[in-house]
Amino acid sequence: MSGSHLDVLISELQIRVRTAELAKQIDDEFGGEPVLLIAVLKGSIHFLSDLGRLMKSDTQLDFLQVSSYHGGKSSTGVVQIRKDLDINIEGLNVLIVEDIVDTGVTLSHLRELLSTRKPKSLKVVALLSKSGSRTVHPPVEYIGFEIPNEFVVGYGLDYAERYRNLPYIAILREE
Ligand code: PRP
Repeated sequence: MSGSHLDVLISELQIRVRTAELAKQIDDEFGGEPVLLIAVLKGSIHFLSDLGRLMKSDTQLDFLQVSSYHGGKSSTGVVQIRKDLDINIEGLNVLIVEDIVDTGVTLSHLRELLSTRKPKSLKVVALLSKSGSRTVHPPVEYIGFEIPNEFVVGYGLDYAERYRNLPYIAILREE
């Protein structure tokens, strides 16, 4: 996007350190039980990859894709399932891996959907949380960083599919 600039909000090092802390906390709380990590595409791919490699639990991976933003900067409130899971989660410990919880609409919908499939447990880890933007309040068991109500990109998060490859989280400001 021309006429815009990026202000780093969370550095690559801060992400790495916090992700390692979360991995340890999650490992400890699952106490050696196997865990299915469900990445919510596309934004959570880098977080899933880094978190998953730092966890010592016996993990499996699966992917879901939902969309509510459709390339814009604000949520439409409409949640569409674009790709469902491959694995039957009945009886499994499930950890939903999200890049960001903003209004909470996506996660609320996902928790409701996945809990009907009778997992043994259902928890959520989100790298970022904008608590001040919630319109609904689904539980988020593990949060990497609370951030202000700014539009952020990088480390998986995009604006119109750009900036996902940045190794840090930045505020996208229009000039
Ligand atoms: C983002 C993010 C969450 C959701 C959070 O996904 O990955 O899934 O929005 O917003 P909410 O709490 O307001 O519902 P998006 O629909 O932008 O898809 P993407 O990950 O493919 O960019």
